[in-house]
Amino acid sequence: MIDLPRVLAADRAHVWHPYTPMDEWRARHDPLVVVRAEGPWLELASGERLLDGNASWWVSTLGHNHPRLVEALRRQSERLCHVALAGITHEPAALLAEELAAVAPRGLDQVFYSDDGSTAIEAAVKMALQFHAQRGAPKKTRFVALDGAFHGETIGATSLGGVEVFRRPFASVVFDCVHVPSPAGEDVSCAPLWGEAFDAIAELVEREHETIAAVVLEPIVQGAAGMRMYPPAYLRAVRDLCTRHDVLLIIDEVFTGYGRLGAMWGCDLAEVVPDLMCIAKGFTGGLLPMAATLTSQRVLSAFDGGRARAFLYGHSYCGNPLGAAVAREVLAIYREEPIVAGVAERHARIVACGERLRARIALVREVRAVGAIGAFELSAVPAVTAPSAVPTISAPSAVPTLETTDDLGYTASIGWRVYDEARRRGAYLRPLGDVVYVTPPLNIPLPDLDRLLSIVEESIAAVA
Ligand SMILES: Cc1ncc(COP(=O)(O)O)c(C=O)c1O
Repeated sequence: MIDLPRVLAADRAHVWHPYTPMDEWRARHDPLVVVRAEGPWLELASGERLLDGNASWWVSTLGHNHPRLVEALRRQSERLCHVALAGITHEPAALLAEELAAVAPRGLDQVFYSDDGSTAIEAAVKMALQFHAQRGAPKKTRFVALDGAFHGETIGATSLGGVEVFRRPFASVVFDCVHVPSPAGEDVSCAPLWGEAFDAIAELVEREHETIAAVVLEPIVQGAAGMRMYPPAYLRAVRDLCTRHDVLLIIDEVFTGYGRLGAMWGCDLAEVVPDLMCIAKGFTGGLLPMAATLTSQRVLSAFDGGRARAFLYGHSYCGNPLGAAVAREVLAIYREEPIVAGVAERHARIVACGERLRARIALVREVRAVGAIGAFELSAVPAVTAPSAVPTISAPSAVPTLETTDDLGYTASIGWRVYDEARRRGAYLRPLGDVVYVTPPLNIPLPDLDRLLSIVEESIAAVA
């Protein structure tokens, strides 16, 4: 049993929450207090159980507290918890790199470890800059990314980001990144309407390639932009464009990797091999923060020539043995169980749910689905006023209070009203603006997925 009043008071006094307007939130809300998690379920201090509709910001691809991962962590913790990776190696980091190289797109057999998606991107950006400088093209210093792109939180990753509200506070310091029109539109299976978007990036790269270091893309799905999807053909065309103009292609698989799209990597769907590939989130199945930037011998060889040309970059926890041991067990599970193959059946159920919603509820403007992602874009409706009463902090409210602000800063948006309805019905469905979405663990049992999808349907119907 936890001391709930104490936890809530300590949180209210000291915890600065991510993506949260703290003043409004502290005035109006109690956080959900999670005490346990298992599979797709979160258990609250109140004893309630919630289906985790977004697999905890997309990391728990194998469900919470997977027993094999917990056991791998326990085993490793008894032998070696951490040692710096500079000039030292250990079994988990070495064998994990070998295993990653075996499942990565062909030729990406060099593994640089870091801590999370943002640092994997940061490393890729620095590698790209130094790569060109050391091959005699020091003017190649600019990046190209998509409108609506999201690549993480460091200043480097923020520079690549194309979501205006996240960039704005840092606009004075971000580096030079040109944002081009996104090819994302209708459902990925719809007729490709990406031609104009490709023309725009092609024109830019053809004209200015002498100053462009890399194009950075989330493959097929722009997650944080609201699960916007585009056809694999665009990715293939950009790959060819980059190859023609000696521009590196950095693929950000932080969200899409580890089977989320129904293939191990998003770029597999386009049969594309990037120059650098960033992976995180599902890397440890949600147990520990760990990530990697994968690249080829060709890229690595530009760093030959001693200390003056080496990649002088590294985080304290690079290759952490605990994370690496868990990440190896993740890959073993993917080898031994039909995790990626099982996505097709889950996809079919998500699509069927979307079709029912679209047929029944006019509020549902668009449904997008690929792999184990379902996004239900709602028409914005006039905002409702959030309750102004300050809830007690001594006990969780029987009826949850409305959340008022989402990741994009909307107030009591339709997405958050659906969140509220879902919360009452037993699911955690954090929205992206007016987009309600599900990204459950890939191995979510089918009855739990059906339950989650009926909560989505009932909750959207309740606000329509
Ligand atoms: C595509 C993409 N890249 C990078 C990141 C940043 O990852 P992290 O939050 O682990 O730093 C995210 C996070 O959601 C992401 O979706």
